[in-house]
Amino acid sequence: MILEIRKDGDPVLRQKAAPVAVIDDEMRQLAADMLETMYNAPGVGLAAPQVGVAVRLIVVDDGSGPHSLFNPRVVSRRGEVCEEEGCLSVPGMIGKVRRAAQVEVEAYDRSGRRILVRGDDLMSIILQHETDHLDGVLFIDKAESLRRAEKNQAEAEGE
Ligand code: NI
Repeated sequence: MILEIRKDGDPVLRQKAAPVAVIDDEMRQLAADMLETMYNAPGVGLAAPQVGVAVRLIVVDDGSGPHSLFNPRVVSRRGEVCEEEGCLSVPGMIGKVRRAAQVEVEAYDRSGRRILVRGDDLMSIILQHETDHLDGVLFIDKAESLRRAEKNQAEAEGE
């Protein structure tokens, strides 16, 4: 099911999301619906608050396949990049954000297994962008420059 993507100005985007207590069928369905919504947008990442649910769940796909990460936590950061980002909740805007070039994220998968995800390049940026959403932080809060995106570009870089 495709869910409605909340836009900047919606208070749910500014809440600190609550930990997922139990990864049950309801949570797995939410993750599946979020992936469908993300691919439909299209985007490369989506956080549960963006569909109005203030829990710590993100879905990402940098082109290598879908990941659903419950209670994700960035546990290490290395290097620095400054790349342009967009966000499905801030349509039409693009900005350069300084982030770690590589991160490791500890999370739980759909089966409740603890996993460690390493991200380089785009995956690193997506993981940081999406985990920020769980703390009520949008990329426009951190961007060093903001500009209006051309339509095609906004779609390509949607996070
Ligand atoms: Ni976003």
